Amino acid sequence: MKAFSKPVTASSYISEEDLLKIAGKFSIDTYKRPSLEKEGLKDIFKEKLGGKSVIFDTGCGIGESSYKLAQLHPDKMVLGIDKSVSRIERNNAFKKGLPSNLVLMQADLQDAWPALYELQTQTELNVCKQYILYPNPWPKLKGVKRRWYANPMLSFILGLRCEIEIRSNWQKYLEDFSLVAKHIGTRECSLSEYVPEEYLTPFEKKYHLSSQTLHKLIIDGEK
Ligand SMILES: C[S@@+](CC[C@H](N)C(=O)[O-])C[C@H]1O[C@@H](n2cnc3c(N)ncnc32)[C@H](O)[C@@H]1O
Repeated sequence: MKAFSKPVTASSYISEEDLLKIAGKFSIDTYKRPSLEKEGLKDIFKEKLGGKSVIFDTGCGIGESSYKLAQLHPDKMVLGIDKSVSRIERNNAFKKGLPSNLVLMQADLQDAWPALYELQTQTELNVCKQYILYPNPWPKLKGVKRRWYANPMLSFILGLRCEIEIRSNWQKYLEDFSLVAKHIGTRECSLSEYVPEEYLTPFEKKYHLSSQTLHKLIIDGEK
């Protein structure tokens, strides 16, 4: 089977110096975005996720990767979140029998990350791994601050202190994420090409069947 998805291209890139300047300014203490949703999410997370360690599948789309991760890790809770109602509520065959260790829900990550961070620091939860699978690349320079590594969410992503696995069809996204994680987060990173044996997500399948090279970045958890 073949697919026809175009590779990501960018005509200009942010310099390493400018990127580190932007990312270096973020801090949880000065983060001021008001969130009406955060307290409600905290209650839901405490009720539904408490007890077991949590794998967080961020921007999970239709939730297929969350479903597969829940099957692979029956000893963990998997939380899959996407802001798109149509993706989360899509009538996919796998949704007919969701495992009991999966929580799939619609929410904005800008509310969910701070909520999880607060619960983690209050030791109410233990997020043990985060996946960021095929995030929107925002390749134009004017979109740079929408990429997670150049966005205030970076402090919460790194603040959860656990291992992070990011996959993308745009190597530059992962190189920049790695740069920021090393310099701002003082975290160990490893970036490699990735050839899937089984597809974890629909975007992974689409890009691979379009003969695009896939890449994987692992950011180690804080020791
Ligand atoms: C390119 S898709 C990848 C989906 C899935 N991970 C996959 O690989 O098939 C990126 C996803 O991130 C979600 N997303 C982007 N920004 C988000 C946010 N602020 N909160 C929640 N989801 C978000 C989008 O709705 C979209 O489903």
